[in-house]
Amino acid sequence: MTMADDLAITSVLKESRSFAPPKAFAKAAHVGSLAAYEKLWKASVKSPETFWAKQAKEHLQWIKPFKKTLEWKRPFAKWFIGGKINVSANCLDRHCVTATRNKAAIIWEGEPGDTRVLTYQDLLREVSKCANALRSLGVKPGDRISIYMPMIPEAIIAMLACTRIGAMHTVVFGGFSSDALADRNNDCGAKVMITADGGWRKGAVVPLKVNVDLALEKSPTVKSVLVVKRVGEAGGKITMKAGRDFWWHDAVDSMANTCEPYAADSEHPLFLLYTSGSTGKPKGIVHTTAGYLLGATISSKLVFDLKADDVFWCTADVGWVTGHSYVAYGPLSNGATILMYEGAPNFPDWGRLWSLIEKYRVSILYTAPTAIRSCIRAGDQWPNKYDLTSLKLLGSVGEPINPAAWMWYRKVIGGNRCPVVDTWWQTETGSIMISPLPGAVSQVPGSATKPFLGVDAEIVDKNGKPVGKNSGGFLVIKKPWPSMLRGIWGDEARYKEQYWSQIPGVYFTGDGARRDKAGNYWIMGRIDDVLNVSGHRLSTMEIESSLVSHECVAEAAVVGRPDEVKGEGIVCFVSLQGGLAPSDKIRDQLKAHVAKTIGALARPDEIRFAEALPKTRSGKIMRRLLRDIAAGRQSTQDTSTLEDLAVLANLRQEED
Ligand code: PRX
Repeated sequence: MTMADDLAITSVLKESRSFAPPKAFAKAAHVGSLAAYEKLWKASVKSPETFWAKQAKEHLQWIKPFKKTLEWKRPFAKWFIGGKINVSANCLDRHCVTATRNKAAIIWEGEPGDTRVLTYQDLLREVSKCANALRSLGVKPGDRISIYMPMIPEAIIAMLACTRIGAMHTVVFGGFSSDALADRNNDCGAKVMITADGGWRKGAVVPLKVNVDLALEKSPTVKSVLVVKRVGEAGGKITMKAGRDFWWHDAVDSMANTCEPYAADSEHPLFLLYTSGSTGKPKGIVHTTAGYLLGATISSKLVFDLKADDVFWCTADVGWVTGHSYVAYGPLSNGATILMYEGAPNFPDWGRLWSLIEKYRVSILYTAPTAIRSCIRAGDQWPNKYDLTSLKLLGSVGEPINPAAWMWYRKVIGGNRCPVVDTWWQTETGSIMISPLPGAVSQVPGSATKPFLGVDAEIVDKNGKPVGKNSGGFLVIKKPWPSMLRGIWGDEARYKEQYWSQIPGVYFTGDGARRDKAGNYWIMGRIDDVLNVSGHRLSTMEIESSLVSHECVAEAAVVGRPDEVKGEGIVCFVSLQGGLAPSDKIRDQLKAHVAKTIGALARPDEIRFAEALPKTRSGKIMRRLLRDIAAGRQSTQDTSTLEDLAVLANLRQEED
């Protein structure tokens, strides 16, 4: 969606209703009034270092205290200099010396209905064993471990085990293809992989180990693979390569169940997570230890108003940043109980999410607008069948939530009783940046409302000048914050260029936004060539490179079009190699090709054939025009520079 489209849409949105925090909720909340929030926020942006130093001392347990809060040599930040800390010790050990030790850390349910509960003590033992196994495979601090797992407790155990010994993990979403996995392994030079024989999704097995085997034919840096037996015989024959592949139950279970946590420097690299940018190649976002942990910890506590008796369910996969910060690190650092579910929300039927909430008495649900919209489509009869009164708070993340979906979420799921927090943030920001604090800030359907503590956001024009109230502009962050990315793996130039050069002196988010009279932020979506499909970031260029790597394709242009459920759908305009006639067969082949090279999440919704793509005289593809065509809109774009008007006529015809 372009900035112009967004402006057109949001300008017709009324400054709709707002919902004040329920009185009883506010009374019990960590931050319980607008005045309290404003006071804290003002102080936090006036003296960020004082604010963050205090939070870091209060919320984290240090092996060695830090000496200096921040060193900022734009665009490079170092936080909590001189400090030593271990993330797994903060998520586990510190709770195992209190009554929390026998509290459930993870309540897990597999898609077939099997269940497991791990207390904090159990989790610490499993993490220690896995950490010892990784060490025995030669893993050293700073090494990269690639994790390609279903949503089973071992995924979190593996992540925490890496942090225990100072290794970096890079979790690759299980829906990515073997090619995408190989690219990521190669980019970071992964030494070890952790995977499973498969995982359950919609009643079928996702063949993870088979994909790993294919990926490893192309990613030679990986020397060892740990394989969890999850699906057993249902997964068919699993090939274990001698000397390279080890079953988890052989390599991990026999290890000692204690492991001294590595004393990591505050700025020791913690993990890498690949995400799409506006170029063809995904970028490895680098996060470091103390700052990231502080962001995840304090935002979990305040945005979700976490209390000791909560059952917190973030439905994201650990393959995305939401799964890192709000399935694993944030809640566990706070000593909370999390629910983890392996499978699809509609298996065996659309009642699954709601049945899990009833069964485990979930109190906080954090999910994505696309999931909410799918549930709306499935019908109220599903949630209405279940007792959802345990819920006290609802959250949304990943894409703009339309006010109608917000209202449904509040009413049908939250019984008009639960505050709804629409949280804006990014892989790069590490933790939530704009969101109401639920006991303090009134919630407005469709708006992420106010900046989180310590976040100095602004909306500016391309020269960095703040725009007026209710005017659209670029969302930027003016000051460094502890959980900010520290770079792009192996590409310092791209880090500077992408985030710190587009607008002078500030962090550029890539999102358009406006701020209303009440100071609420309305996120309008990406202003670059990044699509947001079902809350997943995909670069149009990544899909274009996949298409042109197919032998039939001469040229391709990919754009998004509004989609009622997925937010955006993927439309590809393709011109075929000379002599080839468009056909349904080629169309199907191309869709399958994109799914194979990137993953099923990138499968195009539509492929349109064109003799040529519309270009300006200087040779640039006219994307805005294509977006209009894809969405079935009259184009607002000036076509006077179009190279060949016949191209446009052909594209329109294809539409009929
Ligand atoms: O465009 C914004 C959108 O998702 C992008 C970040 O994607 P990713 O790094 O994959 O992280 C997703 C989960 C944090 C943003 O640049 N986005 C995320 N949350 C919201 C959102 N757009 C509108 N409202 C949100 N609450």
